[in-house]
Amino acid sequence: MKLVAGNWKMNGDKAMAQALVADLAARQAAKRAASAVVLCPPAYLLPQVAAAAAGKRLNVGGQDCSAEAGPGAFTGEISATMLRDAGCDYVIVGHSERRARHGESDALVRAKAERALAAGLIPIICVGETLEQRQSGDAVAVVRRQVAGSLPDSARQQVVVIAYEPVWAIGTGKTATPDDVRAMHGEIRAQVAGLGPQVPPVPLLYGGSVKPDNAAELMAQPNVDGALVGGASLKAADFWAIVEACR
Ligand code: PGA
Repeated sequence: MKLVAGNWKMNGDKAMAQALVADLAARQAAKRAASAVVLCPPAYLLPQVAAAAAGKRLNVGGQDCSAEAGPGAFTGEISATMLRDAGCDYVIVGHSERRARHGESDALVRAKAERALAAGLIPIICVGETLEQRQSGDAVAVVRRQVAGSLPDSARQQVVVIAYEPVWAIGTGKTATPDDVRAMHGEIRAQVAGLGPQVPPVPLLYGGSVKPDNAAELMAQPNVDGALVGGASLKAADFWAIVEACR
């Protein structure tokens, strides 16, 4: 079964969240989704979304967590334990917007993923090259380095998700071609397989301008186990069309 996660980023409010989750729940009730669905709203909406999603086969995830276990003096941070307490099953870590805007290194992303696992969350670990890196032929090396540096050691025994999101495709309307996606996902699959036989299957998501009209083709590529969706996750009809494209 594929996995489709919606990253709302810094969008939405209480009214929007109520309407969107109700709409998605109604679609799920009418026809059970072809994939597992995760909603990642801004942190302050998590308890509300988790309550509305409960029992509806909709999972909830955070968009980031602290690398600190806490509790403690870490102003502005939210711990993986708190996300779990708010009703999350997943958390996105290492999104390119955090790597770029907040200087998050692979080591920090790995620490966050470790906290997530320790708190009982499944981390969705994001990797992806910039346009410059792709144009200079470094995309595979960059992504391999990010995977090697960001994946916790315990990923050998615990479930982690990797999301390949080329930075140049995020929010731009420019999607990687199915050939690009197939090639990169094959590289990541081989790298993860090389970690050793005890690794549980690692779902590989593609993210970057996934829309209803390109989802089916992207999701049909080998080693593509789902999608991480930004903009299109804010509209129930579009998000559900992507979920259904996995059928
Ligand atoms: P996008 O965002 O679908 O709006 O390109 C994807 C993401 O940032 O996860």
